[in-house]
Amino acid sequence: MENKTLLQIAEDFGSPVYVYNAETITNQYKRLTSAFNKVKQLRINYAVKALSNISILKLLRSLGSGLDTVSIQEVKLGLAAGFEPSQIIFTPNGVSLEEIEEASDLGVQINIDNLSILEQFGTKFPNIPVCIRINPHVMAGGNTNISVGHIDSKFGISIHQIPHILRIVDNTAMTINGIHMHTGSDILDIDVFLYASEILFETAKNFSNLEFIDFGSGFKVPYKEGDIETNIEELGEKLTKRFNEFCKDYGKQLTLAFEPGKFLVSEAGFFLAKVNVVKQTTSTVFAQIDSGFNHLIRPMLYGSQHKISNISNPNGRERFYSVVGYICETDTFANNRRINEISEDDILAFGNAGAYCFTMASNYNSRFRPAEVLWHNNKAHLIRQRETFDDILRNQVEINLN
Ligand SMILES: Cc1ncc(COP(=O)(O)O)c(C=O)c1O
Repeated sequence: MENKTLLQIAEDFGSPVYVYNAETITNQYKRLTSAFNKVKQLRINYAVKALSNISILKLLRSLGSGLDTVSIQEVKLGLAAGFEPSQIIFTPNGVSLEEIEEASDLGVQINIDNLSILEQFGTKFPNIPVCIRINPHVMAGGNTNISVGHIDSKFGISIHQIPHILRIVDNTAMTINGIHMHTGSDILDIDVFLYASEILFETAKNFSNLEFIDFGSGFKVPYKEGDIETNIEELGEKLTKRFNEFCKDYGKQLTLAFEPGKFLVSEAGFFLAKVNVVKQTTSTVFAQIDSGFNHLIRPMLYGSQHKISNISNPNGRERFYSVVGYICETDTFANNRRINEISEDDILAFGNAGAYCFTMASNYNSRFRPAEVLWHNNKAHLIRQRETFDDILRNQVEINLN
């Protein structure tokens, strides 16, 4: 998006503010589907957790996407956005049987990731086909917090427990209609992905009623020019070939499913914040913005390096700044980063702010969560209002302490 458009949005809607470019989301969706255009039945289930604004969900629905959800609330958001239950998969981790039953009653595809719930669900509802999440024990992902397929991970049912799964399926007479894996986020090496896929194919042979294989997600997106990203076109070519071979051997055309979050929305997002104070200390120049990890926690949580541009002075001389927030704890967005000269009141734009940014925002320090704006057809649409003081007090119950 052009700097002048972003500056105008900051002016019109105030700062801090999240801005999403609908065109980028559309292009990424098309890029993924065209990389897999030789698969007869392809299904993209957008991972709602990445960015769950209902207008974003509607945009993805208009592109033909389904949804991957992890909570009953995400399921309900998807239904409210107009998705059919059959377009939604529910892939929770460690939730109660009651929550799974509620999702199942709404008609969505259930994906189960532990033996205990598999047995309980299968005993109670043998006629409802379920998908199972397999843990292939492959170490993949950019950070230990987002590598979820390894041996010590809490996610999925271990491939070493296939005999247990088969025993449960036999005893309950339930049907397994899908198998799934998600090894982690920010996977750099497509060979690791392909290796995990082979494990999934091997696992799939144990189940005769499959309708789909879900390869999860974890595609790495670039954060700056020249950054490594998952080569989606090469993955498309190689995985399609293997998938089509597998379907032939299996004797049935299955659906190939993915559930990308970051790939679809990360690069579409910008977080705009205003510089409150430029503070020179004996060692550092701090640019202190009108935000903190309450609005964008990823740098503190994962060490993510979001590109930061001074869109108020894009041609200014580059200097080194540590960009920090106003939270009462260390909340560093960038350490000694080269940025065009910053003055107080300048607007900084953080890149890759579409995925896991607003959805992880909180009211810490009793701050308001920011507004969200969708740039669509050359027009800025407000898709979430900035919170107000009423939102801070909402749901609090004052008691009489006398
Ligand atoms: C089960 C599952 N599927 C899909 C995703 C989306 O991953 P990404 O945003 O890396 O595409 C996640 C991310 O945490 C996940 O846990």
